[in-house]
Amino acid sequence: MLFRKGIDIMEKVLKVENLCKNQILNNISFSMKLGEMVAIMGPSGSGKSTLLYNIAGMDRPSSGKVWLKEKEITALSEDEKSNLRLHKMGFVFQQMNMMSNLNIMDNILLPAVQANKVNKKKKSKAELEDSARELMKKLSVSDLQERSITQVSGGQLQRACICRSIINHPEILFADEPTGALNKSAAGEVMNELLKLNREGMTILMVTHDSKVASKCSRILYLVDGSICGELFLDRLEIGTEKQREEKVNTWLMEMGW
Ligand SMILES: Nc1ncnc2c1ncn2[C@@H]1O[C@H](COP(=O)(O)OP(=O)(O)OP(=O)(O)O)[C@@H](O)[C@H]1O
Ligand SMILES: [Mg+2]
Repeated sequence: MLFRKGIDIMEKVLKVENLCKNQILNNISFSMKLGEMVAIMGPSGSGKSTLLYNIAGMDRPSSGKVWLKEKEITALSEDEKSNLRLHKMGFVFQQMNMMSNLNIMDNILLPAVQANKVNKKKKSKAELEDSARELMKKLSVSDLQERSITQVSGGQLQRACICRSIINHPEILFADEPTGALNKSAAGEVMNELLKLNREGMTILMVTHDSKVASKCSRILYLVDGSICGELFLDRLEIGTEKQREEKVNTWLMEMGW
């Protein structure tokens, strides 16, 4: 029994326990296992972004606890939290937050350079650039290294943001409507890249309004007024085609009042 419990703890990447934030989040509890991709859905203003910020330690919850593996994030100092974010978490936001005075390559390198400073230069600039190039190849933005952020499309910029978010090999990737500012085809490309990363083992917690995107996740949490009101386990569904999965999700969302 104890052994089983040990395995369960080891498998968990994220654990959220009774998280509250003022009147916005009420007693949120859930956990994520290694390699899971979980979608948070819910009406506008239900607290989805607030939940991500409070889990990642960018905002301070009123009460409750959050663990990233064995580390209790909610017990850390601000410095320890930024260090943890730099090394163990990746972020992709709707507003892409790239630096306009740097080209695409240097934007992608930023977290790696920062981590290098903190770690007192473990890697050379050439090594960092090599890993950036490898990621850019994977996300199909290799040709854009020298461009400024105004010289690329929205989809390309978001894919570059994904490169930046994973350059330090995070244990979990948080994404807040990563496809929200994109047209349909660019959104599809970005989503495919996130799915590819997830299939390679990246644990992803993502806010999305798109039921098609959510239907590709292993689980959906539905948030209303800061509380989890529903949970759909998609990996347990014996559903064949993508279309059937999507239909299942849409029916469930309607039941949730979507
Ligand atoms: N810094 C803040 N101070 C006070 N209230 C806030 C703050 N940020 C958000 N809120 C409020 O908290 C509630 C939840 O906001 P949040 O941005 O988390 O919603 P959301 O579910 O992400 O919405 P959307 O789908 O529109 O992005 C809203 O009522 C919002 O007005
Ligand atoms: Mg939001």
